[in-house]
Amino acid sequence: MPNSNYEAADVGEGSSSSKDEIIKGLNEDLAREYKAIIQYVVYSSTLKGAEYSDIAEQLKKHASQELAHALEVSRQIDYLGGDPTMKSKEAEYSKDSKTMLEMDLKAEQETIKNYRERIRQAERSGEFALSEALRDIIRQEQDHEIDLKDALGL
Ligand SMILES: [Fe+2]
Ligand SMILES: [Fe+2]
Repeated sequence: MPNSNYEAADVGEGSSSSKDEIIKGLNEDLAREYKAIIQYVVYSSTLKGAEYSDIAEQLKKHASQELAHALEVSRQIDYLGGDPTMKSKEAEYSKDSKTMLEMDLKAEQETIKNYRERIRQAERSGEFALSEALRDIIRQEQDHEIDLKDALGL
């Protein structure tokens, strides 16, 4: 009998620690969204050159989409019982337009990789509403990646 009690306790602990893992991961995602907002706000107004005028307009759209992602991720963290972070990952800046776009592209790819992992974690823990919400977000991140690749001629 004591053995089966231990097992029950282990299962409980396991599931709460996987929830903690998800919250921790989502807070990293939230910090990445803040960074994306900052970079898109600044880059959309500082990109120079006629060849970048279309992408500068697109970056403004990215900025508002990243804000919507931040709001959603924060809501999900609160729902899971966590505290949404107020700290951003450090935003990067360059005076060179092409470098700005390359930094955005790298950040989007990093973001996509992390959301993929978060979706897997959510599915494993039976958090299906969360995984649905993250799928909507990752679809837009992939569009951002495509916009940036197009602008860079990749
Ligand atoms: Fe985002
Ligand atoms: Fe994005």
